[in-house]
Amino acid sequence: MGKVISLINWKGGVGKSTLTLHLGVGLQKNTNKRVLIVDLDPQCNLSFLALGVESYFESVYESDIATLKDVFDNYFNEKDIDGSSIVHEKLVNDSPSSVFDKIDMILSHQDLVLMDLKLARSQREGKDHKEVTRNEIEKLSILKTLLDQVKDDYEYVLLDCPPNVNTVTQNAFYASDYFVVPVKPDFLSTTGISLIVNYMDRFNADFESMHNYAEFPTPYIHTEFGGIIFNMVDEYKGEPKATHLETMQTVTTQHAGKTFDKYITNGDGIAVAASVNLPVYSFNYLSRSRDNAAKQSIYFNELTEEFIERIV
Ligand SMILES: Nc1ncnc2c1ncn2[C@@H]1O[C@H](COP(=O)(O)OP(=O)(O)OP(=O)(O)O)[C@@H](O)[C@H]1O
Ligand SMILES: [Mg+2]
Repeated sequence: MGKVISLINWKGGVGKSTLTLHLGVGLQKNTNKRVLIVDLDPQCNLSFLALGVESYFESVYESDIATLKDVFDNYFNEKDIDGSSIVHEKLVNDSPSSVFDKIDMILSHQDLVLMDLKLARSQREGKDHKEVTRNEIEKLSILKTLLDQVKDDYEYVLLDCPPNVNTVTQNAFYASDYFVVPVKPDFLSTTGISLIVNYMDRFNADFESMHNYAEFPTPYIHTEFGGIIFNMVDEYKGEPKATHLETMQTVTTQHAGKTFDKYITNGDGIAVAASVNLPVYSFNYLSRSRDNAAKQSIYFNELTEEFIERIV
């Protein structure tokens, strides 16, 4: 059965989208099973990274292929959604001239930026408070309803969340078996981790009591904390540099058992690969920073192995 994992951090620029793409590729290569990656962010960074900006605009604005926006639009129009029309095969670049056969994708749309507000404002009427709560649960489960249709075609489904915990992110959390928090190993980036984890605990508690109160036909299943992944680690002689190591050790003490041992280094490989819409695994096709991209792909391989062990 497909495992659904959200990459969540309300802090921007920590590597949620980069990790979603690279873990997606790593998991596909490691297991040789199908993987689905989902872009939930109106910034569309994962979509751009995976396809390239031009190809994205051509697909969505010219060829009119479906995106996550259609999923939420259908909710407002009270139409059912056909999962297979939203999931796209063969979009994610493997090289300048080929795509991954076994990595599928759900694209985001810039108009999703308005969706949070629209969702927050919409309140379907109900004959009593129980029914109103049931409607609220339905609003939270828009994404889950879609993923339930398709997730068994995949070994892993990775959800790249926007840098907030609004309704779209809550939809991701609600649909997930696990949430994982990417962080940069600096003081300011790590001070917020406990707050995020507390927030997620509260979502679990709130969603469960909503289910119980509304006598929802299915129980709410808690989303487990899958762990903290350090990204953009600076190394010195093959080890995290002293200030990063110190921060990583502090976080490891604070969140015992929850920090990944493997991490991703800070390096040009990722940025250079991103600039030509490729993952670092495709380092052979890069015109520069090839060695760094190759090194980062090894780190991603190791991270993927640990991910497979932890997310079971
Ligand atoms: N390990 C790394 N080394 C170097 N650059 C990196 C690394 N990881 C990510 N980046 C770069 O940092 C920037 C932010 O990464 P990314 O977009 O993945 O973060 P994000 O958490 O998804 O951001 P947002 O919150 O805006 O969605 C990008 O330009 C990306 O290429
Ligand atoms: Mg992102």
